[in-house]
Amino acid sequence: MTARTIHAPVLLKPALDLLQVEAGKLYVDATFGGGGHTLAMLERGARVIALDQDPAAIERAEALAKDYPNALTYVQANFRDLVSVLESLGIDRVDGILADLGISSFHLEDPSRGFAYRHDGPLDMRMGNEGPTAAEIVNTLPEEALAEIIFRYGEERKARKIAKAIVEARRQFPIQTTQALAEIIRQAVGFRRAGHPARKTFQALRIYVNDELGALKALLHSSARVLSVGGRLAIISFHSLEDRIVKRFFRESPDFEPVHKKPIVPGAAEVAANPRARSAKLRGGIRR
Ligand SMILES: C[S@@+](CC[C@H](N)C(=O)[O-])C[C@H]1O[C@@H](n2cnc3c(N)ncnc32)[C@H](O)[C@@H]1O
Repeated sequence: MTARTIHAPVLLKPALDLLQVEAGKLYVDATFGGGGHTLAMLERGARVIALDQDPAAIERAEALAKDYPNALTYVQANFRDLVSVLESLGIDRVDGILADLGISSFHLEDPSRGFAYRHDGPLDMRMGNEGPTAAEIVNTLPEEALAEIIFRYGEERKARKIAKAIVEARRQFPIQTTQALAEIIRQAVGFRRAGHPARKTFQALRIYVNDELGALKALLHSSARVLSVGGRLAIISFHSLEDRIVKRFFRESPDFEPVHKKPIVPGAAEVAANPRARSAKLRGGIRR
């Protein structure tokens, strides 16, 4: 089995159906990751421009492009720059855009990327290779700012307590690893029945470090500029902060007609086979 088939793409068929992927049409996969969605589009005969800000994902795209030299183009870029990326390729309209948000299982499984509270690694959390790391954030921001980030992006009720514990700990030593941070949080909030005590704080830092919500808003607005009339935009989100933005955008944007009233969620079989699918929600819109 190759890396391409190990990481099952989430909501694959519903996403491809929503996008009406067909031979000869041109799509953007804004989040190449392991390439699962891109591969399925290529197998349907579509052409794909794949973006990912992560150089490791782009290496996987390069490998896949050897099998599809005329149909797959890949660019290491943040999807917030979609308009300029397409401009640089000389493309002004595409038939569909997919974004399967967040980090990939490759990120979670590689301790050196610093996303996983269950493995030890440097406290990095950057999907690309730019900007401050999570370690720089937790070691330098004032307590108030940390509490605000943890509360807002982690929806963590104990944000103040955690921020206080981080600031106390960093007076003794800089917090450099995922395990050091996870342990500080565990000591601050104690045992939790629902999930690891560090889960929400790690989510918050990751969203902040990568400005995930800012990038998502920019992508939604850029999509209207590059989709042909009748073209489709599909977004798979994984937590309520993202889903709220997507839902509101499709409800309020004059440029899109929502495809469904309710989001499409995975069935029990998909969740059992792929735990990452558990909180996935797919929403889509048609360019007016
Ligand atoms: C959930 S994975 C995508 C999985 C992919 N659909 C598959 O089937 O393998 C998300 C990917 O999007 C990338 N990503 C997240 N935010 C991004 C952004 N703002 N710009 C570009 N890539 C981004 C991440 O680096 C990650 O590789």
